Amino acid sequence: MDVTGKTAFITGGASGIGLAIAKSFAAKGANVMLADINAEALEEAAASLSAAVAAVGTVLCDVGSEADVRAAADATIARFGKVHIVVNNAGVGIGGRAGQTPIEDWKWIVDINVMGVVYGVEVFTPLIKSHGEGGYFVNTASMAGHVANPAMAPYHATKFAVVGYSEALKDDLARSNIGVSVLCPAWVRTSIYKSHLNSPTEKASAFGEEGFSVMKDVVESGIAPELVGDWTVECVEADRFYIFTHPSMAQYIDMRHEQIRADYAACAADARLADEPESLPIPSEI
Ligand SMILES: NC(=O)c1ccc[n+]([C@@H]2O[C@H](COP(=O)([O-])OP(=O)(O)OC[C@H]3O[C@@H](n4cnc5c(N)ncnc54)[C@H](O)[C@@H]3O)[C@@H](O)[C@H]2O)c1
Repeated sequence: MDVTGKTAFITGGASGIGLAIAKSFAAKGANVMLADINAEALEEAAASLSAAVAAVGTVLCDVGSEADVRAAADATIARFGKVHIVVNNAGVGIGGRAGQTPIEDWKWIVDINVMGVVYGVEVFTPLIKSHGEGGYFVNTASMAGHVANPAMAPYHATKFAVVGYSEALKDDLARSNIGVSVLCPAWVRTSIYKSHLNSPTEKASAFGEEGFSVMKDVVESGIAPELVGDWTVECVEADRFYIFTHPSMAQYIDMRHEQIRADYAACAADARLADEPESLPIPSEI
């Protein structure tokens, strides 16, 4: 996709990875609309972008609210006329072991990390289709959407959902000339380690104080968001579906697949489970 002259709507655009992606799109000549819950950070972000590009807009938007996302889409159309690229990036993190995570915190993270992406896709797909110029969705998942760690169950549940949802969207939207990528970074130097403080219980969930400082240290040891921003835009231009940013993490994906293969082999070796391959529908034809 040639992003020059296109309009990109970016959630969680006031800081971290979202702002870095916005800067990279702007550097390639795209208009950018930043959507975020943090009004002060939005203003600062817009000021930092205005130096590089004139066409920047902002809108207050909680992606966990369908009404907010619809209003943000209206504001973007009012400002730029059309939207081509939607980056469903806003996200939060909480840790949580089984039986220890308050249900209101579970609902909070699902509303933002999963429903926020769903609202972005449902609201913007008809708008992108309506102008006929094609478009693109980037959904921010994580390496946490590919491999799981026992202390982070709520985060993994939402990020695996974003990976699976994006895989389903890819072939669906290709028919309408709309590309899809799923961004899957490991640690990136942002403020994500503080995001649980906005959760209903305002606690570090299962992390506790000690866990909080460990999270802070690992996040701060991560790669620069600017690198993720540049690489993301390059992957959109190349229409690359999985946007990975940490080559060394591939070993964990391999380990997961080995586990799947081993358990699949057990199923395949059991005569009672033998099936007729030709009788199974091909998923893309259903
Ligand atoms: N930083 C990492 O190590 C890392 C790794 C993998 C994936 N991610 C993902 O990257 C995305 C961006 O996170 P980040 O690391 O830049 O964190 P960040 O906290 O620096 O930025 C997130 C931004 O989203 C905004 N936001 C939070 N809740 C929102 C809501 N309900 N509606 C709209 N905006 C909201 C925040 O105000 C903030 O500006 C998230 O989806 C996160 O899960 C981050």
